[in-house]
Amino acid sequence: MQFNYNQQITRMEAVSGFSKLSKEAKLEWLSSHTGDPEKAYELLTSYWHNNPKLQKLHDEFAENTLSNFYLPYSIAPNFLINDKMYAIPMAIEESSVVAAAAKAANFWLTRGGFKTTIISTTKIGHVHFAYYGDWEKLLAFFNEIKQRFFDDTADITANMRQRGGGILDIQLINKTLEEPNYYQLLATFETCDSMGANFINSCLEQFSKTFQSAIEQDARFTEREKQLTIIMCILSNFTPECIVRTEVSCPVEDLEDEKKDYTWQEFVKKFEMAVHIARIEPYRATTHNKGIFNGIDSVVLATGNDWRAIEACGHTYAARTGQYRSLTDVEVKDGIFRFWLDLPLSMGVVGGLTTLHPMVKFSLEILNHPSAQELMGITATVGLAQNFSALRSLVTSGIQKGHMKMHLLNILNQLEATDEEKKLIVKHFEKDTVSHQAVVKKFCELRGVTTLADIKK
Ligand code: MEV
Repeated sequence: MQFNYNQQITRMEAVSGFSKLSKEAKLEWLSSHTGDPEKAYELLTSYWHNNPKLQKLHDEFAENTLSNFYLPYSIAPNFLINDKMYAIPMAIEESSVVAAAAKAANFWLTRGGFKTTIISTTKIGHVHFAYYGDWEKLLAFFNEIKQRFFDDTADITANMRQRGGGILDIQLINKTLEEPNYYQLLATFETCDSMGANFINSCLEQFSKTFQSAIEQDARFTEREKQLTIIMCILSNFTPECIVRTEVSCPVEDLEDEKKDYTWQEFVKKFEMAVHIARIEPYRATTHNKGIFNGIDSVVLATGNDWRAIEACGHTYAARTGQYRSLTDVEVKDGIFRFWLDLPLSMGVVGGLTTLHPMVKFSLEILNHPSAQELMGITATVGLAQNFSALRSLVTSGIQKGHMKMHLLNILNQLEATDEEKKLIVKHFEKDTVSHQAVVKKFCELRGVTTLADIKK
């Protein structure tokens, strides 16, 4: 079924109690606010899963769910990581991303593969609060009652402690030089195989209660000091102490192009400079890192992790020196080319979607049920692979050749080409450079018309 959905949408109106309506009523409400209610209803329901139980599961992931929004689910095989072979699941719509990952995987497969190292796994959360009183007194009191924070959260942390994690430390931080009366409880956590957001936030909320009530009950504090105000309790998505390194290396001569389009010397020189440019030029660094996140996000999504958190963290990390810079780095020393990515990645393989979404469960299964640390390594590796492929194309053939080849099917689908036409046109562009104009020209030629407008007539 083909939907050309370019109808005029009528003006939206405010609606009260929408979330309380049945799914059917919500669908009808939305459809009735489109140019073609019947078509809208049909479109939305056509994306429902044919297994009602599975559909219900998806409906319950979010609020006001009307339908599903598909993304292609692909596999990039041949990733050799720490001498172990992986076929990596990637959920992404951008045509060239999986091809680029797979290409880099193949390239490094014969050059020793990727090596990953977990540098640290500590996560962070804050109780942000306002206090109107004597700092020294607060600090002495905090140190006196510090154990209470651990005791009062013992129930919350029991499971995590059993798994080898829990609260690592809590500190009191004075931030009044930056904001009057602003202080923090800064807590660090080890959350093992879970991403740990709920765990961390639950601990933080308990810390705030413990702190507030301890101060309220202590006669050493004045009435004003007892009015300590909790502003918020929340984990930080910036986890510079939960960080993984992934790298590749090989003798420089091994970078020679098999087709002899360029020498290894030319390649290394341009590749190195491309990375240096991304280190010093934020305009380039943004695109460079975007390419890295093409790979990262698609694995994060396929494994049911929070890609918004991971993106936010990665970009903050890229700007940690005060300027936004490349996340990858390169070194050529003693005849060895080394290319690596250090990235904070807070990922989980238990909890959240990982135990609920059948495709996420499947992704973890084909990755052979990795630990969170192993998954950090796998994910970062796809980011590095992506960046390697992008830079390799950029400094040699240019990006458009491969990109447009992958985009060809999108163009043909827009043109509503038949399978036969697609086959012929794909064959034609095996040799020729793909551009939108060239594809339209070839398509018109096949249909025996001069312009697209002639087809519609
Ligand atoms: C496109 O999605 C990503 C690239 O622009 C990345 C890069 O330029 O490094 C190709």
